[in-house]
Amino acid sequence: MTVTVLVTGASRGIGLELARQYAARGSRVIATARRPAEATALASLAAANPGVVIEPLAVTDAAAIAALAAKYAGQPIDILIHNAGITGARAGHGLGTLDYDLYRQVLETNTIAPMRITEALLASVAASTQKKIVTISSSEGSIGGVDAPRGYWYRSSKAAVNMLMRNLAFDVRGRGISVALVNPGPVDTDMMKGVPMPLQKPADAVAKLIATIDRVSLATTGRFWDREGGELPW
Ligand SMILES: NC(=O)c1ccc[n+]([C@@H]2O[C@H](COP(=O)([O-])OP(=O)(O)OC[C@H]3O[C@@H](n4cnc5c(N)ncnc54)[C@H](OP(=O)(O)O)[C@@H]3O)[C@@H](O)[C@H]2O)c1
Repeated sequence: MTVTVLVTGASRGIGLELARQYAARGSRVIATARRPAEATALASLAAANPGVVIEPLAVTDAAAIAALAAKYAGQPIDILIHNAGITGARAGHGLGTLDYDLYRQVLETNTIAPMRITEALLASVAASTQKKIVTISSSEGSIGGVDAPRGYWYRSSKAAVNMLMRNLAFDVRGRGISVALVNPGPVDTDMMKGVPMPLQKPADAVAKLIATIDRVSLATTGRFWDREGGELPW
């Protein structure tokens, strides 16, 4: 049976690579992008793969989420992947100059959107065979991993989405739905431009993510997975 995967933020970076690799596996991919007309790499992927469908979705737009859910009502979604994200990093932004409007944007994108989209599409996930809800989190959201200050907005948005999804895991377990938080590790995408650390190629990082997502099950639900398939501290 064909596996259906929905990926948010599929215009570039990790989301685009997830769409590419799931399509290469023969999955049906619902690739969402907030500005499809500008997502030229995604458009090329869809042109070459009839199984890839592009849907417009700004994840912070509640009406657009409702419209997408209405469109897919009654259709199974095996793997729902919350990938769209922003760092909220900006030059000169730090203690004493923190921008709280920016914080709202980061929380709307990284934390509230995954929950809202989950609620909207839950029936479609429940109607599928694999029944998986996956959020691309970050080791930056690991409170136990913090030993130096940086990224107030990003770190707290990921820690909060971790808690939402861990809570959700117990809420939907009885419906046979598994929930996972996955850390891709540092990946060479626009998000990491100029960050001086070794970066994985998107293709390599996403191959590992998909291997981890394959292992997600009711037995492992609610886990915060590290990039090599181990567990991260909360
Ligand atoms: N790269 C890393 O090293 C790394 C490490 C840990 C975790 N992550 C996580 O991995 C995920 C993907 O990151 P990335 O590295 O691929 O970042 P990226 O290259 O900056 O891409 C971000 C994606 O999110 C989309 N997006 C942002 N805000 C959106 C919104 N309001 N509505 C819809 N789409 C939106 C972007 O769409 P547009 O093209 O329209 O802007 C783009 O497709 C994020 O959740 C990030 O936190 C990344």
